[in-house]
Amino acid sequence: MSQHTADQPQTSTLAAATGPDWWRDAVIYQVYPRSFADSNADGMGDLEGVRSRLPYLRDLGVDAVWLSPFYASPQADGGYDVADYRAVDPMFGNLLDADALIRDAHALDLRIIVDLVPNHSSDQYEWFRRALAEGPASPLRERYHFRPGRGADGELPPNDWESIFGGPAWTRTTDPDGTPGDWYLHLFAPEQPDFNWDHPAVGDEFRSILRFWLDMGVDGFRIDVAHGLVKAPGLPDLGSHDQVRLLGNDVMPFFDQDGVHAIYRAWRGILDEYAGERIFVAEAWTPTVERTALYVRPDELHQAFNFQYLSAAWGAAELRDVIDRSLDSMRPVGAPATWVLSNHDVTRHATRFANPPGLGTQIRTAGDRDLGLRRARAATLLMLALPGSAYVYQGEELGLPDVVDLPDEVRQDPSFFRAAGQDGFRDGCRVPIPWTVDGSSYGFGGGGSWLPQPEGWGELSVQAQTGVEGSTLELYRAAFAVRRSHAALGAGDSVVWLDAPADVLAFRRESGGAGFVCTSNTGDSVVRVPVYGDVVLASAEGAVVLADGFAELAPDTTVWWSTASA
Ligand code: NOJ
Repeated sequence: MSQHTADQPQTSTLAAATGPDWWRDAVIYQVYPRSFADSNADGMGDLEGVRSRLPYLRDLGVDAVWLSPFYASPQADGGYDVADYRAVDPMFGNLLDADALIRDAHALDLRIIVDLVPNHSSDQYEWFRRALAEGPASPLRERYHFRPGRGADGELPPNDWESIFGGPAWTRTTDPDGTPGDWYLHLFAPEQPDFNWDHPAVGDEFRSILRFWLDMGVDGFRIDVAHGLVKAPGLPDLGSHDQVRLLGNDVMPFFDQDGVHAIYRAWRGILDEYAGERIFVAEAWTPTVERTALYVRPDELHQAFNFQYLSAAWGAAELRDVIDRSLDSMRPVGAPATWVLSNHDVTRHATRFANPPGLGTQIRTAGDRDLGLRRARAATLLMLALPGSAYVYQGEELGLPDVVDLPDEVRQDPSFFRAAGQDGFRDGCRVPIPWTVDGSSYGFGGGGSWLPQPEGWGELSVQAQTGVEGSTLELYRAAFAVRRSHAALGAGDSVVWLDAPADVLAFRRESGGAGFVCTSNTGDSVVRVPVYGDVVLASAEGAVVLADGFAELAPDTTVWWSTASA
């Protein structure tokens, strides 16, 4: 168990076992530290818990682990409100634990990617605390967006922007003498004031933070709200009172401004000074895949999440369209496409696909669970057959559904409260994962669990599924192994579409040379296709029946075929 002291380790660099371009086809596993594994029985996952499970991740067959924030934080937004970017929150451990985690991961040939939150700090970050305490004349206020209010007494927010979590994007301050003062901008919760990236101290601070973690040996950074750092000059009104959605792709004066790219070019210069192939991945919501591609030009970031793919419904036409658009947009800039189906902000894909399409990415109903899991498994095999890098979210390898019936009193998503319970259902995908069939918190830790785990959670546990033919866990393991060894599925930048019935996606991969075809039947009836070769892997039992020179594909399944030649 960790001692949780605050000492900084003496060793500053680690020899990362990085091969060239490892990230281009990597499978990157997202750990949400609070919900992964709890080493000290306080009901909250921690870094030592993650470290203890690294052999599981190695055996699963992933290449890298992305850790959501574990920094010192009041946890107003699950750690995406950072009070000290160079410290580990005591609830997660300390810097020695982070060092041990990075070292152990490298010894297992796993890379570690950490989260960087540069759009906003916590309201407990020293600059912001002092900016408030020192009053309106504090020069530290220039590092955030402080503005006088509108209206006769400044009682109205400076502009009409709304917080992505609901309510105004501005909160009024109280001056040290007790009178109402200026307002400050927060695109997310009031506890997350936005930095002013026009102020040079902000850039200096983040370049220093980058070096701090690079010196610790991390292999990369996931950049939170990478599209939000620069705001349009003058902070102009939106002119519309439509609520901005967290996962929206609209053009906004606070998102996807061209000025962000200079920041990333400077960061890339720093990263490239370090040994090994280290990477940046952008969380960048932009209006189009073409705008996303700008973030991954050769002198900027390495990858960007593909939220268009995540948002696509389970259906051949829509999926083919988004696959083509994704590959086409990345090819000119030479960046790999990325693929993702679940993360800590959206309803798990087993539950999204259990519900009718069109409900968005935060869903409150369980839907048809068997159908959802069947489609989720098929969608995962489809994703893993595509060229580029794939992101998987902890627990999806167990086929976990979202927990849709969490009582309101246990919820912690700040958006749930700011949107008066109409939004903010992200806790459902953050319930601690089950490791064992029974026992306290199903092996998550020796104590409780910060969000209640549902009845029957143990049946989905790692223990229950390990070695069980046909389990979702064994399907993921097999898929990762095939992807790595059989046909270099992650390599290249294109697929060759084959003629197929309307509901079927069929494509050939030529990059590996070994000859490989992927077929997905997204419809609800059996369809006939040619026998492409030998079946390598199928997402469900009975997914394919061979008869008379034809193959019959069952509904909602994906089949991987090994063909004689490319
Ligand atoms: C995106 C993160 O993924 C999400 O969890 C967080 O609430 C917002 N950024 C704000 O940091």
